[in-house]
Amino acid sequence: MSDLRLGVNVDHVATIRQARLTDYPDPVEAALAAEKGGAQGITVHLREDRRHIQDADVRRLKDVLSTKLNLEMAADAAIVELAREIMPQDVCVVPEKREELTTEGGLAVAGNESSLAEILEPLRAGGVTISLFIDPEPAELDAAAAIGVPVVELHTGAYAEVKTEEERRRELERIRAAAVHARARGLQVNAGHGLTLDNVGEIAAMPEMVELNIGHSIVARAIMVGMEQATREMAEAMTDARR
Ligand code: PXP
Repeated sequence: MSDLRLGVNVDHVATIRQARLTDYPDPVEAALAAEKGGAQGITVHLREDRRHIQDADVRRLKDVLSTKLNLEMAADAAIVELAREIMPQDVCVVPEKREELTTEGGLAVAGNESSLAEILEPLRAGGVTISLFIDPEPAELDAAAAIGVPVVELHTGAYAEVKTEEERRRELERIRAAAVHARARGLQVNAGHGLTLDNVGEIAAMPEMVELNIGHSIVARAIMVGMEQATREMAEAMTDARR
């Protein structure tokens, strides 16, 4: 197993369940299978509209995981209060708009440093490791460092959506430069969004990367091969890229 960690996001297992308001499939069962397949953490996004993951899922995950729970959430007082009660090991703060299909851009940290720091203070004081999900831009990284968070997660969505080889090279360079910039400021560097077996290699190969959070492509593949195997395939692709 490589030193690059894989966090598996199981939101979209809950998406299928909520589509019919059934009690299956169970994202907790999927998370346990992902752990068996080599996940070193489980990620869920508790959205304000609760469109997939529910509060009870987060509580159950915190109880049963043998790795760690990374809760993605908006910088919103009500969700911070809930997180303070559940106390996941990690929290990743993401921007959230009700109408978006998925998290579309990084958090605007620059210009909002003091309000963000204040809203997150109860989690920081409680010992939760806080990460900010941001675009690979130096000004945002500097703002994250100024707040004093230990971790940033670089948004790889633009890289995942490139259409041409030139765009791909430009996005990779932007992420690479941001990863180096963040490390130089003492930040741990994670990344995620839109990563697949086909595009994960060059991100995984960046030596600054500590953890990749991947959901949609793993859950989609799990429909064909099961969650444990789908996780194993991604973990192996990451390990191969690090060789
Ligand atoms: N990291 C963050 C912060 C996210 O918001 C998401 C999507 O919920 C992911 C990673 C996973 O993205 P995907 O489902 O596209 O792999």
